[in-house]
Amino acid sequence: MKNDLALSTREAIAQRRSIRKFKSDPIDDAVIRELLEAARLAPSGCNSQPWRFKIVKDDATKQQLQGLAFDQKFVSEAPVVLVVCVDVLGYLEGRVSGVQDMGEIGAFSDNVCEVLNKGTQMKSKMGIDAISASVAFNAAIAIEHIALRALDFGLGTCWMRLFNDKAVRELFNWEQHISPVALIPIGTPDETPTARKRRPLDELILD
Ligand SMILES: Cc1cc2nc3c(=O)[nH]c(=O)nc-3n(C[C@H](O)[C@H](O)[C@H](O)COP(=O)(O)O)c2cc1C
Repeated sequence: MKNDLALSTREAIAQRRSIRKFKSDPIDDAVIRELLEAARLAPSGCNSQPWRFKIVKDDATKQQLQGLAFDQKFVSEAPVVLVVCVDVLGYLEGRVSGVQDMGEIGAFSDNVCEVLNKGTQMKSKMGIDAISASVAFNAAIAIEHIALRALDFGLGTCWMRLFNDKAVRELFNWEQHISPVALIPIGTPDETPTARKRRPLDELILD
């Protein structure tokens, strides 16, 4: 597979930038699968694995997504846009089997399993919109795996949260329990942005 650079984790974290200008070079399907494989391996609460991915390559759909993302131009310029979603019903199901599995391997005590199972029952009564924000935490980790793994293939990405999620759900005729949480344009960078400023570490450590 072309360009599998296999950066160290430290190098990937340091080199990653949000990319907002892409070359039109296409991306091999095998590379997209590698990125999704990195997402698949992400950790999740109770191993619930609620992430789902829509791979968008056709120009008309990318233009529609761009329109639903306040016309942020790089959406349609990227050869591939991933629409990252969470499946809230899948999350609840995954939690139940995840807790059972954790109980069986002894990672969670009976007490912890009971608390988590009660939590699942409560969440299932809360309604999809009320829990989708907390479920989205899990997808965030999967997205960052994609962003870091993309560097191994010379690809750039940009997290995008500024879009109309309900309109994106309608665009793809998804049911209510599928909640779009991010758009991730992916492509060969056509810019080399300088690193955005970060706060010094000492400011981040609480007394
Ligand atoms: C949750 C989240 C949402 C973001 N949404 C957008 C977005 O809608 N549009 C955009 O251009 N950048 C977006 N970004 C990218 C940030 O602006 C960027 O990560 C930040 O400025 C730091 O720059 P860096 O990623 O190059 O280090 C988002 C980043 C995150 C983590």
